[in-house]
Amino acid sequence: MKIKKIGVLGGTGFVGRHLATRLANQGYALKVLTRRPERHRELEVLPGLELLEADVHDPQILQQQFSGCDAVINLVGVLHEYSNQRFGAVHAELPAKVVDACRASGIKRLLHMSALGADAAKGPSQYLFTKGAGEQAVMAVQDLAVTCFKPSIIFGPKDNFYNQFANLLRISPVLPVACPNTRFAPVYVGDVAQAFEIALENDATIGKSYELCGPKIYAFKELVEGIARMLGLKRLVVGLPDGLAQLQGKIMGLLPVKVFTTDNYLSLQVDSVCSGNSPGFAELGMTPHSVESIMPRYFANQSQRRRYDALRQAAGRG
Ligand SMILES: NC(=O)c1ccc[n+]([C@@H]2O[C@H](COP(=O)([O-])OP(=O)(O)OC[C@H]3O[C@@H](n4cnc5c(N)ncnc54)[C@H](OP(=O)(O)O)[C@@H]3O)[C@@H](O)[C@H]2O)c1
Repeated sequence: MKIKKIGVLGGTGFVGRHLATRLANQGYALKVLTRRPERHRELEVLPGLELLEADVHDPQILQQQFSGCDAVINLVGVLHEYSNQRFGAVHAELPAKVVDACRASGIKRLLHMSALGADAAKGPSQYLFTKGAGEQAVMAVQDLAVTCFKPSIIFGPKDNFYNQFANLLRISPVLPVACPNTRFAPVYVGDVAQAFEIALENDATIGKSYELCGPKIYAFKELVEGIARMLGLKRLVVGLPDGLAQLQGKIMGLLPVKVFTTDNYLSLQVDSVCSGNSPGFAELGMTPHSVESIMPRYFANQSQRRRYDALRQAAGRG
């Protein structure tokens, strides 16, 4: 069946905005569900995109909102728990509700976003454990055509990871990094979005879980040093001994706004690199982009923009 209309959960986030832009420009009609539409009005300029306020955790609302859709994409995920946002509810219970709502609405196609290292048996952190449970639940479903994606850390314009470290490096001559030897294979958000689009159009992807890795592996410390180089900054990046990294997670985890927690420390106990035992970009006919082919130009444009904004402000036009 030709897919025309897609219900998207998590379509307002970093990956979701890139994916929504790509799919809308390809002519798909999108229903993007969000808790706070007023924060994401810019998405409404995309052709055929409806931005709808919805509590996606309410099964009845999900079912109502999916009506008229041919497929669903679930990108919802969180890196930190808060009292009103538990890992289990977001990563494991919500995917099960999505499956039920697809069934009730007669939707046959589901694309699900997991993460590299997600593991319902051995996930070292609650993030990876619950992501694994959600993935396992949707992949076990027999009466839906499901494809799952497991990316390493994702980079690109307005990402959370590279931009957060870039901001820290801009203000700090010395940057301590927890778990400096943990390895990542950063993957470009445009490649992740393309993989989703290919899956929508290619039934050979049904029933498969794709590991998505960029072309190069970096130790965490090396990755942060690379960001400093791209920004043209001389910075000292220091690997924290394990005990201090644990302590950093404990102390920072107590802050009201979470940036690094014990659970993040535990996630860093496993490398985020492809196993080689699952399909990946090659099976999708794609060659992924490197960090070096995307981020230096992005950071350079960002610096230019910052200088321009500073000049405008100095001239009283900010
Ligand atoms: N970014 C990465 O490096 C990376 C790597 C591997 C896997 N992933 C996975 O990729 C997915 C997208 O990541 P991202 O970086 O785009 O995340 P993001 O920018 O933080 O966006 C998260 C999205 O999920 C929704 N959301 C967050 N908390 C929610 C909650 N409690 N209930 C319902 N909806 C909620 C948000 O929607 P509203 O606020 O609009 O409701 C938002 O659209 C996630 O599943 C993540 O685990 C990301």
